Amino acid sequence: MSYERSVSASPHELSTESVWHIQMPQIRFGADATNEVGFQLADLGVPTDSRGLIVTDDTLVSLGHVDRVSDQLEADGYEADVWDESEREPSISIVDECVSFVREEMGDAGYDFYIGLGGGSCLDIAKATRTIIANGGEVINYIAAPTGDGEPLTESGPPLVLMPTTAGTGSEISPVAILSVPEKEIKEGISSNHIRADAAVLDPTLTTTLDPEMSAKSAMDALGHAIEGYTTHPYDTLLRPSDPRDRPVYAGRTGLTEMFSEKAIDLLSSNIRRVVNNGDDLEARSAMLRGALFGAIAGLTAGASVCHAMAYPVGNRYHTYHGETIAALTPATTLGYNVASDPERFVRVAEMLGADTSGMSTRSAADEAKKEYIRLQRDLSVIPSGLTELAGIEEDDIDWLAERTVESQQRLLRCNPRPVTKADVHAIFEDALHNWE
Ligand SMILES: [Fe+2]
Repeated sequence: MSYERSVSASPHELSTESVWHIQMPQIRFGADATNEVGFQLADLGVPTDSRGLIVTDDTLVSLGHVDRVSDQLEADGYEADVWDESEREPSISIVDECVSFVREEMGDAGYDFYIGLGGGSCLDIAKATRTIIANGGEVINYIAAPTGDGEPLTESGPPLVLMPTTAGTGSEISPVAILSVPEKEIKEGISSNHIRADAAVLDPTLTTTLDPEMSAKSAMDALGHAIEGYTTHPYDTLLRPSDPRDRPVYAGRTGLTEMFSEKAIDLLSSNIRRVVNNGDDLEARSAMLRGALFGAIAGLTAGASVCHAMAYPVGNRYHTYHGETIAALTPATTLGYNVASDPERFVRVAEMLGADTSGMSTRSAADEAKKEYIRLQRDLSVIPSGLTELAGIEEDDIDWLAERTVESQQRLLRCNPRPVTKADVHAIFEDALHNWE
């Protein structure tokens, strides 16, 4: 599903897009929604006595969340095995391990249902595993060429329910699984509507165990989705693909995604201090989980942009968390470089983040978005001041990072609302070394 903005691109008509489309899993949201996970499976047509797999990690086992879900499934007449070997920033090989586990336990047909429980990594491994079992072969067959074979996914597989325990990645609704390829030092996404879950069960009581640091960093990812989605191209200024099947997964912003962006920016920026200062504040946890969901509905439909493109090479090389990488990059990217694409729009972002722009010129008011965002990060006290504090990244490392971004992230760079060259990426990385002293 390539997407070109050039008018000479053959798979596009020389007229602008006039249709938008949104596809979402079923969404079940609220305190103790975990108690309805069996009901959710039944609603997806999974008969009782079916055997499923919970894909998670050992931290969530020790926190008791896995038992809580298993006990509920058992009470509702389902049986579930647990695979708890998930790793953060998951690699292709960890998915291969999960796929092998499934084949050993259940044969090629796999389980009757799958549940992903955890942060974005657990959810992405669950998504990829269910899909590989359903389509056959190995992960590498479905990774885009030249890294993989680029075979298309044709099957979705049995029902998959995702239960996030962080408020951030939006993996529970997105059509993408992000996997690292360590030997090539890159990250690749498997992107298809077949990889999307059938249902998301979002329960804020599962997020109270997230520590202040991870709460803040996950929130920066969610806020990134909301703002990147809000400031990307409008869908009806992009060229229409000749075949609706070629409509890209990231298709530009629409009235619907803007509405979700606006609400997400408000919920996230006005509740983040509360959850960082008191992790038990269930009302604020609920607002953050809703904000992350809304940010994902907006950004992961409209399209993430240069910030996410630059974050993948950084995460892959330095093994930083996705959320903290986005946190370090957002001031220089989305709220720095991209402001020139549409200053008026960024004035709205600044105001949504709480800046007072009265009496300012449009351009000065637009720049307040970055200042207000940095003020928020500094208030939280747990966000790195830039790439140098994040992972010791220095001037000398930038050439490699810029090259890798331009080489491997065209899918996201093409969506950026302002054209980006390698020299631009280089300059943005430099700017992102220190967001404050
Ligand atoms: Fe993200």
